[in-house]
Amino acid sequence: MVIITGTSKGIGKAIAENYLSLGEKVVGIGRNHTLSHPNYSPVVCDLGDPNLVEQISFPDFNEEPIIFIHNAGILGKVDYFEKLDSNEIGQVMQVNLFAGAVILQKLLKQIPKPTSFKCVFISSGAGRNPIASWASYCASKAAVDLFCQTIQLEEQQLGRNDFHCISVAPGVVDTDMQVGIRTSSETSFSEVARFKEYKDSNQLYSPELVAKKLFKLVHETSLQQVLYSLRDINL
Ligand SMILES: NC(=O)c1ccc[n+]([C@@H]2O[C@H](COP(=O)([O-])OP(=O)(O)OC[C@H]3O[C@@H](n4cnc5c(N)ncnc54)[C@H](OP(=O)(O)O)[C@@H]3O)[C@@H](O)[C@H]2O)c1
Repeated sequence: MVIITGTSKGIGKAIAENYLSLGEKVVGIGRNHTLSHPNYSPVVCDLGDPNLVEQISFPDFNEEPIIFIHNAGILGKVDYFEKLDSNEIGQVMQVNLFAGAVILQKLLKQIPKPTSFKCVFISSGAGRNPIASWASYCASKAAVDLFCQTIQLEEQQLGRNDFHCISVAPGVVDTDMQVGIRTSSETSFSEVARFKEYKDSNQLYSPELVAKKLFKLVHETSLQQVLYSLRDINL
């Protein structure tokens, strides 16, 4: 059973399709649902609304392993932080970190030990190196990294030995998020030319490649650490 947030498009949709093609059951959580498959169960939820996230519930789990992938994410408005509305950072943190954290907490409370349970947060290189005009996004992904490291430590101390929590940077991927980045103005985003060049020189990963690399990492690698980059995973 695989629970994935943000399956309507991009990386999340490719991850869901990859698992469905392998016969897995997938629960997708998000505002929009574009997948139709007998093994796909949609849960409609705007992850930007904490009250709606709090209402998410799961039936008892009677199969394992359970995989939770918090993939849904937003970049927020691309501009210098001093020019943004004050609520901008809150919404980015809500979708990128808090929504996934609340869902994970529900799962940790509900899934009995011992059960094979793997939790993946989709992070970003931008959480490990600063990018001007992405302050909220960088902060949210850095927080995701340390959140996952802390949860892994806690669950080890609590004796949940079949649990792994990892935070995975996917690389630069050909999705709508990159389309949004490339349409930024040079005035608001000094590095826009670099991201246009990634596209023009075919340097973007496809979402399907990212889904396959993530599968290899999660299922065919002994997870000895928490922070990963899919650039290091070779198929
Ligand atoms: N693309 C890259 O180069 C790149 C690089 C590093 C990390 N990432 C990370 O990879 C993950 C997926 O990004 P992507 O590139 O696939 O972006 P994307 O194509 O924009 O897809 C984002 C997904 O998140 C969902 N989502 C956004 N806000 C939501 C909300 N309030 N409630 C529910 N779902 C919401 C979207 O659903 P809706 O249909 O509701 O909009 C969509 O399914 C993100 O965490 C992103 O930060 C991407």
